[in-house]
Amino acid sequence: MILLFFWGLLCDGFGQPPPRHGLKLLVWYVQNCLDNNMRALCDPYRGEYGFHFFQNIGPVLPVIKDRQQWSYYTIGNLHYPGAEKLPYEVRRYYNRSNPKSNMDRVLVKYNKNNKRIDELYASAHYEPKETYRIGPNLLASLRKKIAFVSTDLQLQTEDEHVSQSSRSWYS
Ligand SMILES: *[C@@H]1O[C@H](CO)[C@@H](O)[C@H](O)[C@H]1NC(C)=O
Repeated sequence: MILLFFWGLLCDGFGQPPPRHGLKLLVWYVQNCLDNNMRALCDPYRGEYGFHFFQNIGPVLPVIKDRQQWSYYTIGNLHYPGAEKLPYEVRRYYNRSNPKSNMDRVLVKYNKNNKRIDELYASAHYEPKETYRIGPNLLASLRKKIAFVSTDLQLQTEDEHVSQSSRSWYS
């Protein structure tokens, strides 16, 4: 189910095609910023890679009751100090004059006590309708081979022909 949902997410164009950067960001985040126990390897609190506190106005995400223990943090604003350390493939299509190139975010629910990420979301900036919770199965597939497939898939979307055939193949 979740895997199908993942392909749905891809086919619906979450965080892609370029200049959107959400899919690259998500794959990079999962593969580089989380260990196998969901411990944060990129410190949200210290603002690594442009991480900063997420206000959750709306609210976009479920409201946190225990604020002593948890906070939401956001990563992916390419304009934010620290974001220049994100890898080139994530920042590649950033263009200050084109808001689309900076609309995607990864949102995390960070547990300050054990430094773990308890929930993970992919979101178009402050768009509740385009905010997806990344469940454990999808997370596992993003960590492994399928993540590489999805990376390929996005690269391929730069070529319309390949994009069309790969989409029907995966759907
Ligand atoms: C940046 O975006 C603007 C507005 O969409 C566009 O006119 C311009 O060509 C883009 N610049 C580059 C370098 O892609």
